[in-house]
Amino acid sequence: VAAVVGGGAAGALAGYTGRGVVDDDEAVTWKTVADSRVVGSASEPFYGPRQAGVTTAPQSHAAFVAFDIVPGATRTEVQGVLRAWSQDAARLTQGHPGLADLEPELAADPARLTVTIGLGPGFFDAIGKPDKRPEWLQQLPAFPQIDQLEDRWSEGDLLLQICADDPLIVAHAARILASGVRGVARQKWAQRGFRKAVGTDPSGRTQRNLFGQIDGTVNPTPEGDMDFDQILYSDGSDQRWMRGGSALVLRRIRMTMDTWEEIDRNSRELSVGRTLDTGAPLTGTAEHDPADFEAIDDVGLPVIPPESHMARARQLNRGEAMLRRPYNYDDPPEGGEISNTGLLFTAYMADPVRTYIPVQQRLAEKDALNTWTIPIGSAVFAIPPGAPEGGYVGQQLLE
Ligand code: HEM
Repeated sequence: VAAVVGGGAAGALAGYTGRGVVDDDEAVTWKTVADSRVVGSASEPFYGPRQAGVTTAPQSHAAFVAFDIVPGATRTEVQGVLRAWSQDAARLTQGHPGLADLEPELAADPARLTVTIGLGPGFFDAIGKPDKRPEWLQQLPAFPQIDQLEDRWSEGDLLLQICADDPLIVAHAARILASGVRGVARQKWAQRGFRKAVGTDPSGRTQRNLFGQIDGTVNPTPEGDMDFDQILYSDGSDQRWMRGGSALVLRRIRMTMDTWEEIDRNSRELSVGRTLDTGAPLTGTAEHDPADFEAIDDVGLPVIPPESHMARARQLNRGEAMLRRPYNYDDPPEGGEISNTGLLFTAYMADPVRTYIPVQQRLAEKDALNTWTIPIGSAVFAIPPGAPEGGYVGQQLLE
């Protein structure tokens, strides 16, 4: 009899790929499970010229937590928040407890924890430096064709993006970081998301969203795109202090599973322009085959419909390139529904006005996927450059 390993991290790291099958004498034991410490002990640096959590290979779990600065807070107090977050993040990411950690045992095994700090448009007024706000740092314009935005998922003066390969680590870090700054930064919303657990899939495969689609195929890479850094990072020409910083656009997009499941598989594939099994463009056979938008079928129709998501979203010029790093969400259903599912669509780029807005505008005007997707939250943050050893995120701005 063979035992099927659920593809845990231990399995993958011990050389099993995906759903491994082991004989009885190698059956999963507590010892095998204990080997998963390999995943737990992996860590990402906190200090450096750029913040971690942007180009870091996406971890399995994420929390995005936004805060508003309480009215009347002084610049020194706000500076204190960034300092405290940086100090604690530097410790937590290396598996050490936060400075005032009341559950210090929970900090062990950081599981590639990254803490990425973002500043919202209101931050600059709150610190009395409105002239230091990058021009692109503003809420997105309304997209009335599609938006059904709710305040409870939108905007914020400060952001913590907390990602790790272990949900316990994420929960602990979120608690430690939020609890220390209560008097100055009031939590506005928290959104949690996930991808496949570590080790459940052979490495290198693109993740799937809850529609079942392979999501993340066309994305810039440092190996494949010579302008990778330019796509993602500011050169400081907008604001000197932002040199090496980036921008995050976060859209909470509800996916209406019930109506999506009403249409047949072929229609679902036509809505994106890719097949569901391999993620190949409808004109190709493998995921990374280039798409042929000119190809016509026997009856003279384009093989990839011009209103499909990929045909509408693809970049028309290099300025539109962005790095997508989405997480799925599946929260408790509300109001008699059976699912409350969607995507925390997150994309990084140097300048959202140049990059994100034109793409989103096109998609709002026409995108077959719009029938089953509803943006319900929206936020934009500046991701300052990283903190120098012993320093804090935002230092270049505040000192
Ligand atoms: C591509 C799903 C929202 C921008 C794709 C692909 C899928 C997908 C399955 C094809 C595979 C890939 O290249 O990753 C979704 C879903 C969404 C959503 C389910 C909402 C729930 C958005 C939004 C934007 C966007 C809001 C930006 C405004 C893109 C871009 C591509 C893409 C730029 C690559 C297009 C190409 O060059 O082929 N998306 N997407 N997507 N999506 Fe989305």
